[in-house]
Amino acid sequence: MIDPWSSSIIDYEKLKKQFGIKPFADCVEGIKNPSTLMSRGIIFGHRDYDQIVNAIREGNNYSVVTGMMPSGKMHIGHKMIVDQLIWYQKNGAEIYIPIADMEAYSARGVDFETSRKLAIYEYITNYIALGLNFDNKNLHIYLQSENKMVIDLAYKLARKVNLSEMKAIYGFLTSTNLAHLYVPLIQVADILHPQLEECDGPKPTLVPVGPDQDPHIRLTRDIAERFKSQFNFITPSSTYHRFITGLTGGKMSSSKPKTAIFLSDSPGVAAKKIKTAKTGGRESLGEQRERGGIPEDCVVYETLLYHLIPSDDKLKELYHECKDGIIMCGECKERASEMMKDFFKVLSKKREKTKRTAEIILNKD
Ligand code: TRP
Ligand code: SF4
Repeated sequence: MIDPWSSSIIDYEKLKKQFGIKPFADCVEGIKNPSTLMSRGIIFGHRDYDQIVNAIREGNNYSVVTGMMPSGKMHIGHKMIVDQLIWYQKNGAEIYIPIADMEAYSARGVDFETSRKLAIYEYITNYIALGLNFDNKNLHIYLQSENKMVIDLAYKLARKVNLSEMKAIYGFLTSTNLAHLYVPLIQVADILHPQLEECDGPKPTLVPVGPDQDPHIRLTRDIAERFKSQFNFITPSSTYHRFITGLTGGKMSSSKPKTAIFLSDSPGVAAKKIKTAKTGGRESLGEQRERGGIPEDCVVYETLLYHLIPSDDKLKELYHECKDGIIMCGECKERASEMMKDFFKVLSKKREKTKRTAEIILNKD
């Protein structure tokens, strides 16, 4: 069982076998100008992605929905979702971004006012600074607690879900509070409401998420089937990306600052942090010259792969330099640290400028 609210590490292979998630690599060929997250295998799995490939190719309407629970600061792992949204925005999608304040309240005890502040000064600020275009009628962002269409739909859909099903999917206990029990229904409604007539539905919908969210996806797809005759839903598609490894080698987590590079870190701090990352280097320089490093096991390499080296050729070059023992970790970290600094210089400048815009975005309707 996968528990979306716990932080255990997920076995990607098992996920494919046990839950029927298909390899994303099979889809990449059909995509015009795939993003690096797609072509480098960071997005590793999907359900029903073909209908999204088709919609993009034919220029048909489709939606992309992916939310965020405002529970803390954003780190560079979260950037992956934003990068995907930017790609889909450029490729004709209608974008929906629920801010899961109801989930944060029910599952984490975060009050609604705190969620709103985090949404504005942390999430939306970063989304804009990273390049998502909010000046676009095809982008919708909302707080769950303020979206009547979503709340009403969740209630209607709950009519065909029972307690034993929720227990089987989430392992809910008799001690689970009732607000928490209802949270998945709100998320199902986040995902399905773009298909209502009021939103120009039905239409294909994609949910790009981390694999911890798959229980919600399975529930959503089942519920969509149950309400097909009433709402004409098209069963939503999903993709799954690998999580970024934390600086210390485990999971990157906002609640453990030593593991994370935060998007609000100063350029100097971010540059320093990457130097503390666990590498795939050998015990001694001699051994590394002889046997080469292990980029597959290296947080520095992973950061470059996910975020800092857009050119495939440059990345390949580094990979071989590492494997062949030509570059040592010290120098490699030095280079990565410079790239990090440059990236964060731009980001922090943009963040400064976007605060006011972020306030307006959430307060406008
Ligand atoms: N549960 C998600 C999280 O923990 C947030 C979320 C809310 C979401 N609604 C969604 C994700 C709809 C994808 C689609 O971050
Ligand atoms: Fe990682 Fe670079 Fe060391 Fe290779 S040389 S293990 S990529 S830090």
